[in-house]
Amino acid sequence: MSSKIRLRKVSPQHDMMKDSDVREEKRDVIELKQEVGILGGISLVVGTMIGSGIFMSPANIISNVGSVGSSLCIWAACGVLSTLAALSYVELGLMIRKSGGEYQYLKEAYGDLVGFLLAWTSIIVTKPSSFAIIAIGFAQYVTAPFYPGCTPPDTIMKCAAAFCILTISTINCFSVKLSNFVQIFFTGAKLLIIAAIIIGGFVMMGQGKTENITNGFENSISSFSAVALGFYSGLWSYDGWNQLNFVTEEIKNPVKNFPIAILIGIPMVTVLYILVNIAYFTVMTPSEIIASSAVAITFGDRVFGPASFIVPVAVACSTFGAANGSAFTAARLTYAAGRNGHMLNIFSYISVTRLTPSPALIFNSFIALLMILPNSSNFSTLIDYFTFASWIFYGATFLSVIVLRIRRPKWERPYKVWIVIPAICTAAAVYLIIAPIVEQPSLAYLYAACFILAGLIFYFPLIYFKKVPPFMEPLNAFLQELLEVVPPPDIPD
Ligand code: ARG
Repeated sequence: MSSKIRLRKVSPQHDMMKDSDVREEKRDVIELKQEVGILGGISLVVGTMIGSGIFMSPANIISNVGSVGSSLCIWAACGVLSTLAALSYVELGLMIRKSGGEYQYLKEAYGDLVGFLLAWTSIIVTKPSSFAIIAIGFAQYVTAPFYPGCTPPDTIMKCAAAFCILTISTINCFSVKLSNFVQIFFTGAKLLIIAAIIIGGFVMMGQGKTENITNGFENSISSFSAVALGFYSGLWSYDGWNQLNFVTEEIKNPVKNFPIAILIGIPMVTVLYILVNIAYFTVMTPSEIIASSAVAITFGDRVFGPASFIVPVAVACSTFGAANGSAFTAARLTYAAGRNGHMLNIFSYISVTRLTPSPALIFNSFIALLMILPNSSNFSTLIDYFTFASWIFYGATFLSVIVLRIRRPKWERPYKVWIVIPAICTAAAVYLIIAPIVEQPSLAYLYAACFILAGLIFYFPLIYFKKVPPFMEPLNAFLQELLEVVPPPDIPD
């Protein structure tokens, strides 16, 4: 993450220029500095991936697939899929060096409309919902110690989740440096708790508690959709593997650091997740895991005894850090879409005093707050919608690796992924999208698809035919003054 906003004009042609040339050309421009090094990159990836899921999803996975063995296989397979997915994204990220992730790639591969539909869905649904889900995870863990043995009241939970969202958006509006510090600090905190859980589990195993693990594949359920829904929960825990693609303009020496951060970060998270699950299964039976609303707390009570209070604190830190990483990159996407005229222009404006994309941050947080309001906002349903909508676009992005190889064979590709990898990932995405619809059709999936297409209602009049309503200009001017923000100096093509 960076300490200063640099608004750099980037185009595929620019991408082929040396970074030093671009810097020279834009020396006087306020800019997003390239400040994400290896450590920053790894903590952005690891710190967003490890958030709420590993402390909450084990119950959903085991309830879908039935046995300890299948559950561990799902966790491992999700890790492998995330690594392959991220490798496909490295090719795109190093070829099209613009922040904004999938939005930029889909725009290049399939045209403006598809890019817009992604921006629309991500900015209105997937990004704020991931922020909201993690905030709900935060709320569940900070409130749990005050309500031993029962579920905390809904209002208290919602207030805690809102507190998380508002604090993070304030931090991010206030300073990029502070947000960066929060990210690194909380990544450290979560690695400590993960280490403590793993060590605790292995000590118990050493004391002979191995009966749950040795039951292996007993009671496995292997239906087409149960496995896909198991994947949904697992993939939520791994989501965040694409974080670096949202900040490519800010990565130091990207050709070297981008792939290294991915290749260290994601396999590391995979190994940690599998070990944590083994630790959980050592101490709890599958039915105990399913019954526990906060699995790490039950684990802490059994293993850490008087020091168990540390678990909710650490999990709250973990979710807080992941929410921070999510808010940071979501704002970059909103900012990039605003800069290209695919969202309100105001979203690409930068705070004059704080040098942060505050309108984008405020908008994302506002939508996230709306998402925690409905009573139906429960963790696992929200995750199902999130994963469904996200994987539609992840799938299109994997395919874009192949499409761009055909359509833009001459573009410079500092890293070329083995073409079979994006093909496998595309097939996995198709499976993940189709399987739950075929076997357990739910209107929710239809709503999600309709929502994506509803973007067309806005695209044609506002973007394609450029029929901007007359109130937009005064509104823009008013918000600009209110928020003390200025437009980016360069609007890229
Ligand atoms: N993996 C994270 C968790 O378990 C969620 C990440 C959400 N995705 C994102 N791009 N922010 O809580």
